[in-house]
Amino acid sequence: MPEHTFRLNGEQVTVTTADDVRLLWVLRDLLGVHGPKYGCGINVCKACTSHVNGKAVNPCAIPVGELSPTDEVTTIEGLPATVDAELHPMQEAWLEQDVVQCGYCQPGQIMAAVALVRRVAAEGREITDSDIDGIRNICRCGTYFRIRQAIKAGASEM
Ligand code: FES
Ligand code: FES
Repeated sequence: MPEHTFRLNGEQVTVTTADDVRLLWVLRDLLGVHGPKYGCGINVCKACTSHVNGKAVNPCAIPVGELSPTDEVTTIEGLPATVDAELHPMQEAWLEQDVVQCGYCQPGQIMAAVALVRRVAAEGREITDSDIDGIRNICRCGTYFRIRQAIKAGASEM
């Protein structure tokens, strides 16, 4: 079985598994990182949303063999360290807006929101409603209104 090395939440990790095993299973089953949730497993629900090199991706759709040693995978567990704080401003906003119902989709929602706000900021603008419309993460509890409010509140602190 081949070895795969990449960076996970600031640390180098190595796993031994087949090339085509999806990153979500590597994170959850081999590395014990459970923030990225398993919803559909086919790149639709986005419950597993995490970042690779700062961009939002769905690890259920990424074969671990595609990662290289310098690729930085960030899950919700590693998000606070990216701003050197106990919680990322987007997580603080989530708490203030009381977004969560069952909570299952929320790590992915927050990771999608952070990547979106960073991308919009890199374009030199503030987040708009139509930017937020582009987020496709599914929430079965239907907390979309509060997610929207929290993204705006979090963005203002980023
Ligand atoms: S579990 Fe990855 S998109 Fe649904
Ligand atoms: S809070 Fe329950 S699925 Fe989103």
